[in-house]
Amino acid sequence: MMENMTATFAVETIPAQHKWWQHGIIYQVYPRSFQDSNNDGVGDLKGMATRLDYLQWLGIDCVWLSPIFPSPMADFGYDISDYRGIHGLFGTMEDFDELLGEVHQRGMKLLLDLVPNHTSDQHPWFLESRSSKDNPKRDWYIWHDGKEDGSVPNNWLSVFGGTAWEWDEHTRQYYYHAFLKEQPDLNWRNPEVQAAMLDVMRFWLEKGVDGFRVDVMWHMIKDFQLRDNPPVPDAAITEKRLYDDFMPVYSTDQPEVHQIVRMMRQLMDSFEDRVLIGEIYLPIQKLVTYYGENNTGAHLPFNFQLLTLPWNSLEIAAAVDSYEGALPVDSWPNWVLSNHDKPRVASRVGPSQARIAAMLLLTLRGTPTIYYGDEIGMTDVPIPVDEIVDPQGLNLPELNISRDPSRTPMQWSQELNAGFSRNKPWLRLPYNAGRVNVERQKDDAYSMLSFYRKLIDIRKKSAALSVGSYSPVYADTQLISYIRQDSDETFLVILNMSHRPAYFRPQNTSYKGLITLSTDEERNGMYVQDVISIAGDEGLLIRVDNG
Ligand code: GLC
Repeated sequence: MMENMTATFAVETIPAQHKWWQHGIIYQVYPRSFQDSNNDGVGDLKGMATRLDYLQWLGIDCVWLSPIFPSPMADFGYDISDYRGIHGLFGTMEDFDELLGEVHQRGMKLLLDLVPNHTSDQHPWFLESRSSKDNPKRDWYIWHDGKEDGSVPNNWLSVFGGTAWEWDEHTRQYYYHAFLKEQPDLNWRNPEVQAAMLDVMRFWLEKGVDGFRVDVMWHMIKDFQLRDNPPVPDAAITEKRLYDDFMPVYSTDQPEVHQIVRMMRQLMDSFEDRVLIGEIYLPIQKLVTYYGENNTGAHLPFNFQLLTLPWNSLEIAAAVDSYEGALPVDSWPNWVLSNHDKPRVASRVGPSQARIAAMLLLTLRGTPTIYYGDEIGMTDVPIPVDEIVDPQGLNLPELNISRDPSRTPMQWSQELNAGFSRNKPWLRLPYNAGRVNVERQKDDAYSMLSFYRKLIDIRKKSAALSVGSYSPVYADTQLISYIRQDSDETFLVILNMSHRPAYFRPQNTSYKGLITLSTDEERNGMYVQDVISIAGDEGLLIRVDNG
């Protein structure tokens, strides 16, 4: 189907001192939803392999897979019962080896999701640990007596609702779970746990996997004394019962976590050219500490600001600048627009602004991560209440935060089930899948997919855009603008984050140059100078005349 999608990209212009994970583009695949090959309605590894040509055509350098390991699927694979296997739903270890080979053959990289904070309650480690108080693995998890009155050891809450402590009647102690009770937290203060998880990492690294995205990295170590988390100082909230009603200052982001991250990094560094990415939801000042002292921590602590901040030009401009300012010397930035835990970008900001978001992601300084389907403008799919499967949605119905809507099958074509599966997909497709799909968009110059592909192409061919410097130019209540530059080239990016037309007229400077890419195809190739007028929802990438 994708015969005409041959690779046309060469990165000759990127200076050799930059690593692939600095100038490359990461693409997150949610395996259940990418491509089904055996028609059970769930995506799998063999299916994924058939779509690698598409990813190469798009210009992707690196594919990150959400968990594919054996799991009871209480949290859709983030509850792992065997760290060294492949879940039968996704295929076999042979399928994985083949996929890895196919990825590498195309000059791309493959990242796996490492979930070291917790296992499944069905993992043999936990089964042993809960079997008796004197089992050698008892201390591999966080067990504690109740208070004198038998109540939970402290006030820590689960991210998915309710107390984070589960009573075990058999051994008459509580165990801690930051997420579901089916996801007991490992005790990372125990050296045996550290060694066991490093062995898991080594297993995959020896297979040739190019790195890991580490799940909830900032959760890995908890306060030794298990002190109560303080409530958020908001008098309006009387009944503290939700995770966000407390500041998780004792249950997350403990100083000792950095020793663990450094240990992981040391292992990565004993292999050639691997990358360690951390999932971390923290304010910038804390986030950047995960680069570690002298960059001995994570290569890329995921930067989720574009995913969490209000879509407002002044706020985004300030966030970009404070992030740039907070980065430690020699650390490398990165940006994320969507993932499997949050609403899709096109649903958060709307279809027109989704193009602005794409332009921002792919012209800012730092490694971009694209969530599957965002490149065709997929939006969150409304899932009827009786079809909700995400535990976060089921446990907290009053909050309406099910993650199912952003995890729906990739929309490939006008065929049955958008070409994803011949069988009923595990989550439903939207009514517009016949129009919003890869097949329909790939030859349409005006489509979101063509826009993404052009942006990626331009970025990859330009060292200024992939690895050049960033400097802010100007921001107001509509516009954000900045310069990307290296010794050969200067790009001016102007993004209108409002629906109204605007004028770009920074004081004491003026720019002239050719519009290399506009969100509006008709404007490409035009020459602009001085006061530049911009339509509502328009973004411009201008190659500045330095003469
Ligand atoms: C991370 C994952 C999320 C999962 C949670 C618990 O935040 O991205 O999907 O539910 O960890 O593992």
